[in-house]
Amino acid sequence: MQRRTFLAATAGALLAPRASEAADGAVTVLLNEPIGTISPLIHGHFVEHLGGVVYDGIWVGEKSKIPNIAGIRKTLVDDLKAIKAPLFRWPGGCFADSYDWRDGIGPREKRPTRVNFWERAGMLQKLEGGPAKYEPNEFGTNEFMRFCQEIGAQPYLAANLRSGTARDFNDWVDYCNAPSGTTTLSRMRGTAPFNVQYWGIGNESWGCGGEFTPEEYSVEFRKFTAWVPNFGVPLKFIPAGPNGGDLNWSRGFLQAIVRKNPGLLNRIWGFALHYYCGTTGGPVEFTTDEYYELLARAVRMDDLIKNHWTVMGEYDREHRVKFAIDEWGAWHRAGSEVAPHHLFGQIGTIRDAMIAGLTLDIFHRHADKVSMANVAQLVNCIHSLFIAHEDKMLRTPNYHVFDMYKEHQGGKSVRAVFAAPMRTGKLARLDGSASVQGKRLVLTCTNTDAGEALPVSVKIEGGTAKSVEGLVLTGRPQAHNTFAQPEAVKPAALKAEASGGVVRFEMPGPSVARLIVELV
Ligand code: AHR
Repeated sequence: MQRRTFLAATAGALLAPRASEAADGAVTVLLNEPIGTISPLIHGHFVEHLGGVVYDGIWVGEKSKIPNIAGIRKTLVDDLKAIKAPLFRWPGGCFADSYDWRDGIGPREKRPTRVNFWERAGMLQKLEGGPAKYEPNEFGTNEFMRFCQEIGAQPYLAANLRSGTARDFNDWVDYCNAPSGTTTLSRMRGTAPFNVQYWGIGNESWGCGGEFTPEEYSVEFRKFTAWVPNFGVPLKFIPAGPNGGDLNWSRGFLQAIVRKNPGLLNRIWGFALHYYCGTTGGPVEFTTDEYYELLARAVRMDDLIKNHWTVMGEYDREHRVKFAIDEWGAWHRAGSEVAPHHLFGQIGTIRDAMIAGLTLDIFHRHADKVSMANVAQLVNCIHSLFIAHEDKMLRTPNYHVFDMYKEHQGGKSVRAVFAAPMRTGKLARLDGSASVQGKRLVLTCTNTDAGEALPVSVKIEGGTAKSVEGLVLTGRPQAHNTFAQPEAVKPAALKAEASGGVVRFEMPGPSVARLIVELV
């Protein structure tokens, strides 16, 4: 029996719900069993120069009639502020390992046009031109920093390790972080220092980022991160981590690092596990079985974290290195994109929102292990929060999950046990996470059933519920927003009551719910 199946099957018995509750959902929140602080960076995002992410998605240009802030789509900025978007990873992805940061600085009219890394991918093959194929470099380092500043988010830059040099990387750090007027590059920047802390050292170096073995990559990582000028900014290096379940990458890389010098572990801030759960059926049309199948694949994230963590502990006994899971999401087939250059564009359904809820809950439950995570990608792409084309923009169901879950940011994750009769052997019917800040408990949960509602009761060990407010996002698994009906799927109030210290509510199926409980 799988561990998850065992837990779900036994948790109800261990917590001994009353017989009348046996067919329902039972949650026990254990306030005195802290896991760790939920880093806001777990709710991070990813922006790559790919398809319609940057051009059309974020960047509309200063001369555009579309409301913009220095060329950046204004409604996007407003909506990202509203969900407290904490961090953006840029400029890739695979694109990062072909990018020369110098192409994107200085007067825009003088910047070169280059072939985009993705130029030959999928539907872009059929296009004659456009920024998805030929990178105009209108959106470069200063524009990206402005985007982050407007939102109040941290920048996370991915350095080019495959086709760039350690010198290029050092110069980019200099350009971004040197105090004004000190170096030639700081003068070229023309603004206050950006003080960028988070630096990815290549991307998917086992694949598009150079096809290295883990041992070969460890040499490159050391070379890139040795003696980087820090200008007083604490630099946080993030090496390329494993592809899904590839434990050999984690083992090979960390072993090589530690063999050279165990002290080098201090140079690794986060380990960049990437996991896409793929797809089943079409992006919008899929069967109920395909819905369950994809959710079951998405929750593999839980085992990936545990398995890689065990391997990491073989070399890093004190677990100084945490995860920076800087690409995750469901990656559907083409067919629902709103413009022909939106490579990997997908409209995003309730199914994707369920995957977002399940995945963020997994990260919260591993708050002691996961320091950062970035959903791929922000707009017009895989598992996006937004679809934007010309003057139209919509928020996907996925956006609403990030909005609901923002209340966890900075909270103390506490253990919670979720129990409900299972629909399939692979997937818990009810799952979630809990965090506390002072007398405020935030509980998020998913009822994964494709159609059946689930009454849920929540017991709080170590505290008593005084009052509760609920919010729920629900709809058919295939439900999604369109430009014609941008608000077809959005959260609504969820009726919940707190009496006798127990919280009760009913979750439609499928749904993602958030409860905010005031404790006595
Ligand atoms: O997110 C799209 C691509 O998926 C990224 O560029 C790459 O890192 C991953 O394989």
